[in-house]
Amino acid sequence: MDRRTVRINVGNGYDVYIENGIISRCGEILKKTAGHSRAAIITDSNVAKLYLEKVVSSVNKENIRADSFVFDAGEKSKSMETLEKILEYLAENRFTKSDTIIALGGGVTGDLAGFAASVYLRGINLIQMPTTLLSAVDSSIGGKTAVNLSSGKNLAGTFKQPRAVICDPGTFSTLPDDEFRNGMAEVIKYGVLFSEEMFDCLSDGATEDIGEVIERCVAFKGKTVENDEFDSGERKLLNLGHTVGHSIEKCSDFNVPHGFAVAAGMAIIARAGEKAGITHTGTARRIESVLKKNGLPVDCEFSAKRLVLAALLDKKRDGDRITLVIPVKIGKSILKDFSVNDLEDFIDKGKS
Ligand SMILES: NC(=O)c1ccc[n+]([C@@H]2O[C@H](COP(=O)([O-])OP(=O)(O)OC[C@H]3O[C@@H](n4cnc5c(N)ncnc54)[C@H](O)[C@@H]3O)[C@@H](O)[C@H]2O)c1
Repeated sequence: MDRRTVRINVGNGYDVYIENGIISRCGEILKKTAGHSRAAIITDSNVAKLYLEKVVSSVNKENIRADSFVFDAGEKSKSMETLEKILEYLAENRFTKSDTIIALGGGVTGDLAGFAASVYLRGINLIQMPTTLLSAVDSSIGGKTAVNLSSGKNLAGTFKQPRAVICDPGTFSTLPDDEFRNGMAEVIKYGVLFSEEMFDCLSDGATEDIGEVIERCVAFKGKTVENDEFDSGERKLLNLGHTVGHSIEKCSDFNVPHGFAVAAGMAIIARAGEKAGITHTGTARRIESVLKKNGLPVDCEFSAKRLVLAALLDKKRDGDRITLVIPVKIGKSILKDFSVNDLEDFIDKGKS
């Protein structure tokens, strides 16, 4: 696979490099984008075993010092406690404002390390190196960072655009099957939102050229973020399936993974949209079919009432109104405001 590069024109602008094997040349990109700064590689315990050594040796090859902080893999680590440990680590090891944090891993690592990069010394350089499909197509792009609070997911966060995103799809070879499907839910979401042609390509459950798929998703997300960096309008479209999805994650005590929850959320909203006369007839069936082909769920065990109670804690709530993203047809969705009272009725329509 050749190198693909997508430019994201937000902040100072940055490039997303997508290429098999690029992990072994990440030091060159660090040098090009952040100069000779020292690197703090933040990664989790699974990814450290697989890829930390490669990244350290590539950075060292450029005569740049690399140190690392490894935390326990898993969503539970996306907490204020881990964030504080990372900040203490940076301070104790005397990282300075001109140094760079490399976030090596999935969305949990990217969100945590991005948060640390945005607040340590009021902001130091960040490079995102996504190693899951989900982080490659979604969380490494656009600058949102977060930790979970005991009241809910992603309730504390910042915006921090990286200097570069270095994506090596070769790292997906070690990704458990469930984690790959998790990412496919977000890929399918981009198809539903932006491109019927891409959506149709996903309909047999096989992805021939994953590099091309990532490039297209990154470009879709990049354009949306360029138009609405701080999530006040168009960027909200990217939440398709997420309000219900976050409720499913919360109701399951985070046992249902993010992508699986978003998949079920998308299907529920599409069915409800059809019943409410917003979504073109047949759209929900097409979405369900692509999700199933990719091994993803199209419903959940929780009642509309429980889902709405959980949604009331979601940060996407605005006063007593909640904005949902509803597909009109494949390739076009709209934002629609609901009062909390009407939401339960609407979601109930989507339960099969
Ligand atoms: N900031 C954003 O815009 C944004 C967008 C979407 C999701 N997110 C967040 O991203 C998180 C989910 O991301 P995720 O699914 O990548 O989770 P994750 O980071 O927990 O990674 C999933 C699992 O895969 C392992 N792993 C990662 N790369 C691997 C590899 N190449 N080989 C083998 N194992 C590997 C990890 O150790 C972990 O166990 C959630 O916290 C979600 O809220 C953020």
